[in-house]
Amino acid sequence: MLVVGNWKMNGTAAVNNQLLQAILADWSPLRCVDVAICPPFVYLPQVVEMLSEGPINVGGQSLNPRVNGAFTGEVSGEMLLDCGCRYVIVGHNERRRMQAETDLYVAEQFLAAQKNGLIPILCVGESEQAREAGQAFDAIAKQLKVVIDAAGLEAFSHAVVAYEPIWAVGTGKTATPDQAQEMHTFIRGQFGALGKNLVILYGGSVKASNAVSLFAESDIDGALLGGASLNAEDFIAICQSAEQVATGVTQ
Ligand code: 13P
Repeated sequence: MLVVGNWKMNGTAAVNNQLLQAILADWSPLRCVDVAICPPFVYLPQVVEMLSEGPINVGGQSLNPRVNGAFTGEVSGEMLLDCGCRYVIVGHNERRRMQAETDLYVAEQFLAAQKNGLIPILCVGESEQAREAGQAFDAIAKQLKVVIDAAGLEAFSHAVVAYEPIWAVGTGKTATPDQAQEMHTFIRGQFGALGKNLVILYGGSVKASNAVSLFAESDIDGALLGGASLNAEDFIAICQSAEQVATGVTQ
């Protein structure tokens, strides 16, 4: 299992300090769950430093696929690795929509992440419109295909996929465990034999109250959290839910 907190554009040095102190103070070791936090770029050094002694990894929220050069405001994969990142999110729907990132650009980011030794967390998700029109599976298949065509299936043995239905992100409207499981099974099916070991996260209004029922689904391997990762109690509870489900031990 893997639980990743995407802080998006939230925090200040003081707020991050308080949040991470609170998480570390109540942290109990997890045997079967990897955990990562993806802060805004400018706070990577602070978060890496504060988490350096512990088991929580750090990731970037995006990257520019180019090596370096005249790309004002951008950050490269090498820079993220340099800062101590292990993961990087690519293709988050907020960036696809607000920064007009295309499937092809996301594929370039995926390749650049791996080239720089980072594990890409590839986000895919359908709009409410697509779901209502019965086109959710087509939408996801298309987003995945562009990256699979560019990187090859084998590349996914060092990558994570996150299913984040757009209608569930930040809306409080979580996909039901059945809806998420159905899509995760479909996603796994796109990877042939490699699909068996692919880590597929669910993201979209995951909370402490619904995490166990999502994690209990056989094709849900963890969560990509937005809002819940900004609250120490919720973040810890969700990581512990993942551990409970993974180990089969209820606390
Ligand atoms: P919420 O958990 O706030 O819905 O956000 C999910 C998300 O976008 C994580 O990347």
